[in-house]
Amino acid sequence: SILEMEVEQINKGKYEHYMQKEIHEQPESLTTTMRGRLIRGGSCKAKTVLLGGLKDHLKTIRRSRRIVFIGCGTSYNAALASRPILEELSGIPVTMEIASDLLDRQGPIYREDTAVFVSQSGETADTLNALEYALENGALCVGITNTVGSAIARNTHCGVHINAGAEIGVASTKAYTSQIVVMAMLALAIGGDLISSQERREAVIDGLFDLPSKVKEVLKLDQEMKYLAKLLMAEQSLLVFGRGYNYATALEGALKVKEVALMHSEGILAGEMKHGPLALVDESLPIFVIATRDACFSKQQSVIQQLHARKGRLIVMCTKGDAASVCVGGSCRVIEVPQAVDCLQTVINTVPLQLLAYHLTVLRGHNVDQPRNLAKSVTTQ
Ligand code: AGP
Repeated sequence: SILEMEVEQINKGKYEHYMQKEIHEQPESLTTTMRGRLIRGGSCKAKTVLLGGLKDHLKTIRRSRRIVFIGCGTSYNAALASRPILEELSGIPVTMEIASDLLDRQGPIYREDTAVFVSQSGETADTLNALEYALENGALCVGITNTVGSAIARNTHCGVHINAGAEIGVASTKAYTSQIVVMAMLALAIGGDLISSQERREAVIDGLFDLPSKVKEVLKLDQEMKYLAKLLMAEQSLLVFGRGYNYATALEGALKVKEVALMHSEGILAGEMKHGPLALVDESLPIFVIATRDACFSKQQSVIQQLHARKGRLIVMCTKGDAASVCVGGSCRVIEVPQAVDCLQTVINTVPLQLLAYHLTVLRGHNVDQPRNLAKSVTTQ
């Protein structure tokens, strides 16, 4: 009805689509996710994290033999992005499960496991069934959801709310970045007060405080990403290469492009390039390479050189100021982004890919907020 349409326009404010609004609202949603949970300063107080919903279970989690992340789609990608920092700060092995695959295999879950269920809606059938399975097997179950009172929030032993605010667009954007922030805080909380990693923990906490302003800065790439979308709108396919902290960024960027822009896209672990994907490289296939500064940087530089050697058509995302050093041995388009602490860089790097997917969708004339065949929460198996 006309009334419904008017209400919708009021909800979208100055934006044309919910996805666009939700992308641009990330500096605020990230701030809300962190509110009251990060403590910095005070005369004798060190920098710490407080996750109320977990505090009675932290001891058990620290004693667990394994932490297993379980989710689907974007929520799985968010967990994958958070795995390195959780492994580093906790020292506990972290494994990844796509909910449906865990159930297909009836994979082993033990009493000594902590199973972390990641879900924006908290109602995804596959994730919910995996939760039931993990409960039967006696694991400690932790929920990370964006929906207070959702089935996953109710049926887990403990958890953390994402607090990103309602997400309407079928493509998850602000929930993804807030999930990563929650899981970084989870890593800090589990890491506890180990002296050996105190400096690192404080750097991550500082990085969390700095994140909203850096996201604000990276959002200024909107018009540049729109221009890139114009260049790419007629393509059939887009590859996205990442590694380390940014393997998840590559998967998430590709998922956004395929689900809303209806363009084939694949996230590729750069370390696997020579084991197959390199055969696809030619002068016409666009390849997006994530090569921001972190411990994998020099490896990504050599990946770029090898792609140049095959005349690959490259778009490189690098840290501000790195444009010249990142693109040796050939020509490429460069997208420069602000630098964050390594484990949170994926939050920054995902934003331009969200914008690219958004603009590609509008230019290709597809439905942004309700892509064909998809539902916001997948409540059937
Ligand atoms: C994300 O853009 C997708 N719509 C989809 O992959 C989604 O993340 C997945 O269905 C999981 O949903 P959930 O986070 O609500 O469990």
